[in-house]
Amino acid sequence: MKSFEEKAQEAIQNPQNIGEMPDADGVGTVGSADCGDMMRMWVKYKEKDGKKVIDKASFQAFGCQTALAVASMATELLKGKSIEEAKGLGVDDLSGDLGSLPPMKIHCGEMVQDALRQALNGELEPSQPSGLQNPNTLISDMNSKAKGTIKIIPLED
Ligand code: FES
Repeated sequence: MKSFEEKAQEAIQNPQNIGEMPDADGVGTVGSADCGDMMRMWVKYKEKDGKKVIDKASFQAFGCQTALAVASMATELLKGKSIEEAKGLGVDDLSGDLGSLPPMKIHCGEMVQDALRQALNGELEPSQPSGLQNPNTLISDMNSKAKGTIKIIPLED
């Protein structure tokens, strides 16, 4: 049986749904208090059988392999879920086929969960494209915050 690390490695070799979503309905950005990494997620809704469900989700991350693997997995399994269903997903749900996260990596999954919940709560006004609220990518946001005094280096697992 494959270890969590092997499955995470496989997931990030072919990550799904990376990148900004210019036509998103909601966006959420969080930083992890545990490690200082950051995650931004976008969600877009559609109507299905008279119900509002997630059409697609995407992410950008400045974090470890686990965060990337969970976000990749989560953005795939969110498709077709209602907002309530998506809000009810725990870290283990969002990790999908990766399985339960090792204790040291739970905060990485929680960062994905927090970014998702913020995106689900933070619906944009229909007249306000997400690009206006978020003109920069996550990386350029971070670089501008880090200017001069802090140097941010991606963590290796
Ligand atoms: Fe920072 Fe995993 S998200 S160590």
